[in-house]
Amino acid sequence: MDSIKGIKGVKDILPEETPRWRLIEDTARRWALCYGYQEIRIPLFELTALFARSIGSATDIVEKEMYTFPDRDGTSLTLRPEGTAGTVRAFIEHNRAADPLPQKYFYIGPMFRHERPQAGRLRQFHQFGVESFGTSDPRADIEVIALLWRLLSDLALPDLTLEINSLGSSEDRAAYKPLLRSFLLQQESRFCENCRRRMDTNPLRVLDCKVPDCRAATESAPRLMDHLSPEARVHFDQVLSGLCALDVPYQLNPRLVRGLDYYCLTSFEITSSHLGAQNAVGAGGRYDGLVETLGGPSVPAVGFAVGLERISLMLQKTSTALRDECLYYVAAFGEAGVKCGLVLLDELRKAGLSAQCDYRSSSLKSHLRQADRSKCRFAILLGDDEVARGTVILRNLESKAQEALPLSGLASLLRARTFSA
Ligand code: HAM
Repeated sequence: MDSIKGIKGVKDILPEETPRWRLIEDTARRWALCYGYQEIRIPLFELTALFARSIGSATDIVEKEMYTFPDRDGTSLTLRPEGTAGTVRAFIEHNRAADPLPQKYFYIGPMFRHERPQAGRLRQFHQFGVESFGTSDPRADIEVIALLWRLLSDLALPDLTLEINSLGSSEDRAAYKPLLRSFLLQQESRFCENCRRRMDTNPLRVLDCKVPDCRAATESAPRLMDHLSPEARVHFDQVLSGLCALDVPYQLNPRLVRGLDYYCLTSFEITSSHLGAQNAVGAGGRYDGLVETLGGPSVPAVGFAVGLERISLMLQKTSTALRDECLYYVAAFGEAGVKCGLVLLDELRKAGLSAQCDYRSSSLKSHLRQADRSKCRFAILLGDDEVARGTVILRNLESKAQEALPLSGLASLLRARTFSA
């Protein structure tokens, strides 16, 4: 019978990889807490309307990438393609705006997008994201960008570039779009089919099309950055000077428009030349109108998300030595040894020491072979003779040095040694 395979673009994270994943997640959590963000856990699926209304019905995500299905009563549900919409929904639903602002949240978990799988692009992928509610001050933008930069730098990811742009206010964009559209229409034939379609529905997205001909055609397009209202300009300048003050290097990218419709003012992306085509490690921006769009009060907000698969791909190159280590291998053999070994294993584990044993082995020789394979640091040898003497032999599996230790009170002795080392 054929075995059942996993789904295309949906990957297992195997035990060799989980130490690296935990390092990434622990580092992300540590930095988030350090900046005063609190963890929120939002559902994996929501009403489809939530994503259509927030991400935008003319975006790639909503048009063609969502996993949408009818519930048993026909209600349309969708697996979350990102975390901002759900966090905003929870913020509104639990009336969090009635509590003191600002409020700052972070999340880690799987997201789902039906994209064409390739290196760094999956259908089930994981994001760490932060959302800061209640401050329109540019220092909130600076804070989230600095948090993202510090986190990625702490993980020592290579060749990072922070690209930044301002998308202005919704009025700025409304005034700019006709200018851009008429520029694009003048040379419509130079664009790919996708861009031609977008000229009507979402002309800003034409600016970040990756097709070389389209890029060439937009080289001299009017820039939104040059059409910002005075307030948006001041906000952007303050963000840039704050980044300078914190020594966070950036590059202006007037083409950066983002694939989700909720953004305004600051938008940013961190890329790495080590990632190939899918070079965005993380991205985000301000979304002052979204809480209101989803039926809440007017609350400004800013945030970002990073892709954990992409970080993991980059970490593979910088640190491959991570693995989960087990400390003790209990080599119990002989009738009395096996009996005692069962209890000793339990005592070690209760004392917080990692310990294992291969129950199939019955001789010292086969135990030692398994102990070497297990990559434990020490083996505890316990046969009938040791039980009779009330001792064990502790063997360092690397240096092969051995010492006799009393069996009684062994777990607390080893615990004291391990945690005082
Ligand atoms: P996004 O740019 O769509 O933004 O995704 C953020 C990051 O998630 C990307 O830079 C990338 O690293 C990762 N990512 C996206 N799609 C995939 C995929 N198919 N496979 C692997 N990784 C992927 C957002 O999701 C916004 N919610 C970010 C945000 C939070 N803005 C404000 N707050």
